[in-house]
Amino acid sequence: MSQPKQHFMSPNTPVETQDGTDIEFNPGHMLGGRYQVITCLGRGGMGIVYKVKQFFLDKELALKTISKQCLTEKSIRRFQQEAITTFAIDHPNVIMVNDFGLLDDDTPFLVMELIDGETLGDRLKVCSRLSVDEVIDLFIQVCFGMSYAHTKGIVHRDIKPNNIMLIHGMPLGTEGSVKVVDFGIAKYSAREGGEVQALTRTGEVFGSPLYMSPEQCQGETVDHRSDIYSLGCVMFEALTGTLPFIGENALLTMLKHQQDPTPTLREATGNTYPKSLEAIVAKMLAKQPGERYQSLGDVAMELNAIKTGGVVKAAVRQEQKKKKEEDIVSITKSNFVTLLCGVAVLTAIASYFAVYSITAVAPPKIIHVRETSNNTPASSLPTENTPH
Ligand SMILES: Nc1ncnc2c1ncn2[C@@H]1O[C@H](COP(=O)(O)OP(=O)(O)O)[C@@H](O)[C@H]1O
Ligand SMILES: [Mg+2]
Repeated sequence: MSQPKQHFMSPNTPVETQDGTDIEFNPGHMLGGRYQVITCLGRGGMGIVYKVKQFFLDKELALKTISKQCLTEKSIRRFQQEAITTFAIDHPNVIMVNDFGLLDDDTPFLVMELIDGETLGDRLKVCSRLSVDEVIDLFIQVCFGMSYAHTKGIVHRDIKPNNIMLIHGMPLGTEGSVKVVDFGIAKYSAREGGEVQALTRTGEVFGSPLYMSPEQCQGETVDHRSDIYSLGCVMFEALTGTLPFIGENALLTMLKHQQDPTPTLREATGNTYPKSLEAIVAKMLAKQPGERYQSLGDVAMELNAIKTGGVVKAAVRQEQKKKKEEDIVSITKSNFVTLLCGVAVLTAIASYFAVYSITAVAPPKIIHVRETSNNTPASSLPTENTPH
């Protein structure tokens, strides 16, 4: 429906979006009896987020509801789960949920603090990539928020640039300048009972293929280390402007996460990055969860070490590994030379003995002992070798 027509409609009349696939609410529309729509802030895979005003408190907030085309019994339960999960996390780097309720037609909604900002996805669309300093400041914040969520037993499972919001007017290093949003497919192990288990069955594949961990791609049960991998992909993208694995389709991308060697930041851009940063990203992107960092708190410490000139353990370990590999190569090389010398010596000895045995083991002299009439001693008789 064209834009001017909306002015003639009652604010409480839902409007079709431009592509005609969904319903949006007009500015002025009252939701849940107390939230008045100001504007539409954004939409993701499942939800639509509005800027609203709490009518009685005169406070601006963000209200998220499920888009009509995604409205199923399962998505409603999942949405409620999102509200419960996010409500359990009280951290400056995670979006805060204030309320949950049902609209007149029983569509659920959740109300959160309003973020005056943009998503990291939006930011990357404009500037393609961020500076190393910006990335370090930004990701330390994300690590703080997500490591807190992890300690509460919550795995986000959909870490990507569009679910990380940057607050306008706050320098990236300041507390609360970055917020993780959208716990819509999060797994909350504290509630891993019948209901939640039904929503997070093993074998179901959630998330965005470009940022999915190898184990997530395989539909295996994931833990917090899957978020660490996804965050590694986001960090890779923020630093290089490209992703570590992009296939021609979702399936091929997922296969690449599982099988392809992980490129370095340098390989992706041709630019040089601090070795320590290369090492951190490589460790976050290890194929095996056991080879990754085991907590995002550790990642935050490592990033902070780059900032403060401290020791980055992953870089030290990478150096040690490289040295070990070089040692193995040089040992192998010297072993090869020793082997060659050994073979040469043995060949020489063998040849010597061969020649010696040919000359030493000459055909035996055949001594013909004849009967002589004059009793000449046999030794004095001519032999076959003796020229006649
Ligand atoms: N609290 C908020 N304040 C402002 N904008 C928000 C807020 N939460 C989400 N958004 C915007 O809405 C978009 C969709 O929200 P999200 O929760 O990711 O929905 P979905 O589950 O559909 O992906 C986000 O990418 C962001 O642009
Ligand atoms: Mg989202």
